[in-house]
Amino acid sequence: MKFFLDTADIEQIRTVNSWGILDGVTTNPTLVSKTGRPFLEVVKEILEEVDGPVSLETVSLDAEGMVKEGRQLAELGENVVVKIPMTPEGMKAVKLLEEEGIPTNVTLIFSPTQALIAAKAGASYVSPFVGRLDDISGEGMKLIREIREIFFNYEFTTEIIVASVRHPMHVLEAALVGADICTAPFSTIEKLFKHPLTDKGIDTFLKDWEKVPDKPF
Ligand code: G3P
Repeated sequence: MKFFLDTADIEQIRTVNSWGILDGVTTNPTLVSKTGRPFLEVVKEILEEVDGPVSLETVSLDAEGMVKEGRQLAELGENVVVKIPMTPEGMKAVKLLEEEGIPTNVTLIFSPTQALIAAKAGASYVSPFVGRLDDISGEGMKLIREIREIFFNYEFTTEIIVASVRHPMHVLEAALVGADICTAPFSTIEKLFKHPLTDKGIDTFLKDWEKVPDKPF
């Protein structure tokens, strides 16, 4: 499973990249606004840092506007993926952009049939939001399982990005279901490293190392 970071914070992106586990980045208008920085400045830094796909979201509601913004965003770098909301106008834009060779990521997916529509329109990625479904007593991971099954049944190559991830269990379940990608906030990725027995083990090894005579380091 590929790991994407769901953020526009360049320091977080640099940190996860330095750990050697960063496959891509997803952003949205909320995440960009949280940086408090000019859009183009932020995006150029991200595109320079990241080797993999970087999703940048359109804000128009009509297909024409989305396509125009999508083309503009795609000019910024070869690894740009244009994020488009799951609407009929959005699907028109997906079809046109994909025909031009610009990859798209259909966002705000909350049902398996929305994912089916996005795949049929030719989207490169779909982003089902598990956390926001869990928030309203839905079953986020059931959505991922169903999309996985539909895409398998019809051999769609559209990749599933598990989005709106809130905690390590979402990452674990995404991997067990066989999602292609999990996009998580920095705080969740950081937690994946943690285990009290790892900390305890390091502590013991270091204490015992002190007792070893004539150490080379
Ligand atoms: O990038 C889209 C998605 O991951 C947003 O997550 O936490 O705002 O529901 P959240």
